[in-house]
Amino acid sequence: MTSRKASHLNRHNEDKYSVLLPTYNERENLPLIVWLLVKYFDESGYNYEIIVIDDGSPDGTLQVAEQLQRIYGEDKILLRPRAKKLGLGTAYIHGMKHATGNFIIIMDADLSHHPKFIPELIAKQKDGNYDLVSGTRYKGNGGVYGWDLRRKFISRGANFLTQVLLRPGASDLTGSFRLYKKTVLENLVKRCLSKGYVFQMEMIIRARELNYTIGEVPITFVDRVYGESKLGGNEILSFAKGLLTLFATT
Ligand code: GDD
Ligand code: MN
Repeated sequence: MTSRKASHLNRHNEDKYSVLLPTYNERENLPLIVWLLVKYFDESGYNYEIIVIDDGSPDGTLQVAEQLQRIYGEDKILLRPRAKKLGLGTAYIHGMKHATGNFIIIMDADLSHHPKFIPELIAKQKDGNYDLVSGTRYKGNGGVYGWDLRRKFISRGANFLTQVLLRPGASDLTGSFRLYKKTVLENLVKRCLSKGYVFQMEMIIRARELNYTIGEVPITFVDRVYGESKLGGNEILSFAKGLLTLFATT
């Protein structure tokens, strides 16, 4: 099927996808990720909005977002900034409250998650009417590019430990390229206790508890070119703590 045809078909679809883009110092990355999102959504014809949640980035990310809003329109780019860096988990919750779509897509804004996978996430969701679809680096053609051994080891280790301790039934627990039914995400967020990076993993564990169905789509994660990761030693320590708490409480 050509993308033209697809676009024609999907335009009559009632579904709307709200993309949550949390940003902290993503001035260089934001214009490109937004351009790619617009391109893939326009090609596939799905209805969408992009919600940028900037946490007072000192590099002027918000000003760049404002320019993008002028280019693409206020119905397509929504700005829901916060005054200071309050963490990734709460950024999603904040963004979700302003979402008007019946589906929510969460992804990183630093181009590690390519928007080209979004039509696949959507197709998968429709395929099995899944409650959530998770992009996975650890299945099929999925993978990680550009990480050093340390980062690979940490990610693999975190996933492996969690698989052994909690048996969650999903292959990538710490990834954050996902599509949720909005009602499902709202319900999960209410039950989630952790706020740091462990948040992604807890969402999957809670989803299993509640018998939500989970679809998976292999994705590639490419390490950022511009700027730096906010995942430091602190996050790793709090991840370990969060994992143990989950182990003890579920
Ligand atoms: N608003 C807001 N506030 N955004 C934030 C904050 C924050 O406090 N911290 C990070 N972000 C944004 C970044 O700007 C980026 O768009 C996204 O969240 C991910 O942050 P990175 O700092 O690039 O994360 P990473 O590349 O180290 O980690 C990735 O891989 C992890 C392990 O697989 C992310 O996908 C993580 O979610 C994932 O757990
Ligand atoms: Mn990143």
